[in-house]
Formats: sequence, C-alpha cells, structure tokens
Amino acid sequence: MQLILEDQVKLFTPYDEEFLKPLLNKDFENSLYTSWLKNSLPKRCIFWHLYQDLLKKNEMKVLDVGGGITPYTYSLKKECKDYVLCDILAHDQFLRPSVENFLYENDWLLLDPDPVDIIIANDIFPNADQRLELFLDKFLPFCKEIRITITFYNYNRFYIVQRLDAEEKLVFQAYNGEQCHNILVKYKSRIKDFDQALFDEIFYHNLEGSLYPNKRHIALFTFFGDLNPKGAVSDYSKLL
Ligand SMILES: C[S@@+](CC[C@H](N)C(=O)[O-])C[C@H]1O[C@@H](n2cnc3c(N)ncnc32)[C@H](O)[C@@H]1O
Repeated sequence: MQLILEDQVKLFTPYDEEFLKPLLNKDFENSLYTSWLKNSLPKRCIFWHLYQDLLKKNEMKVLDVGGGITPYTYSLKKECKDYVLCDILAHDQFLRPSVENFLYENDWLLLDPDPVDIIIANDIFPNADQRLELFLDKFLPFCKEIRITITFYNYNRFYIVQRLDAEEKLVFQAYNGEQCHNILVKYKSRIKDFDQALFDEIFYHNLEGSLYPNKRHIALFTFFGDLNPKGAVSDYSKLL
C-alpha cells in the first residue's frame, strides 16, 4: 500500500537503465503503450514494481487486465507458468497478431475466470474504468493476490465522451481520492499491510506531490484473494 512519490522513484532509479533497454526496440517505436513507459520515469517505476519478479522464470499463473502490449509482454508470457492478457486494445492494434495466442480481447466483465496466482491491473481503475468495486468482487474469489494501481485526481477533471451504443454524449468526471477511499475502505481487511493513517493520507494528498503533468496521483495496492486469505503470494514490492 503506497502512494508513488519522488522518494519511491529515487529508489527505483538505479534499476532504470537496465529496465529501459528493451523499450528502445525499433519494432515498438510507433507503439503508444511503449512510449508511455519510455517517456515517464514514474510510470517505469510503477511497472517495475508490479512486474519485475515475474520477468524471470517463475511458477505463477498471471492474468493481466488492461495490461496493454509492450516488449515486456512477451517476457511475461515466456517466464510465467501461464500469462493471459485481457485487454480491449484501445491502442496499438497493429501489435494484436503478436499476442493473439494469449489475448482475451474483450471487456474483463465477460471473462470466465480460471483460478490464477496473481491478477494485475495497472493504470485502468478508475481512470479508464470506474467499475472498481465490480472488478474486485468478480476477481478476488479467483486469485491469491491482486496487484492494482489506483489513479485519481484531487481536482475537478472531466471529459466529454461519446457512447458507442447510443447517440449520446456524456460527461465523465474522473474519480478523486475521496471517492477511491470510500470504495476501497470496504476492502480494508483484504489489503496487504493495511494501515488506517497511511490509507487516509494516500487519498487526501495534495496536488504538489504529483509526478505527472496532468497532476494525477497513483497508489499501489496488494489485495489478498480468496485462494490465499492469509497473505499475498509474494513480497514483490521490496523497495516500497
Ligand atoms: C491507460 S491504459 C493502461 C495500459 C497499461 N496497463 C499501462 O499501464 O500502460 C488502460 C488499458 O486498459 C484497457 N481497457 C480499458 N477498458 C477495458 C476493459 N473493460 N476490459 C479490458 N481492458 C480494458 C485499454 O485497452 C488499455 O490497454
């Protein structure tokens, strides 16, 4: 449980040179997913925390919800016992053929889940998908651990969006910290290393500490799934 701030990024910096190398692969120079990682040290730091233990040979069955496609996707497929990417591929569809044999290209809500060790959801809730509670309720019974980042904006941020199934435009207001807090507090018994004071501090953090041009905040949480109620399967975020 941690808000990613300057200090966490500093701890990651010694690992960055090595981590960046695969992202410079020419085949990915037109990839938006990879450019997000290439262009943001904090984003690389978060990705590294979530995935680094899975990038070497391991016995984990992993479901990656909204993981996108980067050069690291293929390493995850190779090194994990099983790796499934569930993503509607809002971006970089030219890369679809290269992941076809392990891609579930549909809304996660429609996925009929097999039991897995780890479910990862990075940078999807609630910024790209506000069904955070539904997601946790659906997947906690099928895994040992959920690694999730929560992205929120402590100011009024909204977008005008077009419904795909109707001729209707809606205004989508991004969640602030308080809204995320009110949802996640219901799951506090499931959160690894839960500490009420830190939990409150994470969500009411001011804008100044943001590491991103759009002033968002990103917090990282581990949830215990029903398949391992006593603890997470790994102590993956060793630097946090
Ligand atoms: C902001 S991107 C984050 C991508 C990647 N995890 C990262 O951190 O760079 C959100 C991702 O979630 C996927 N996504 C959005 N809604 C989804 C849904 N309902 N089911 C599956 N994937 C979804 C998008 O296609 C996109 O790849």
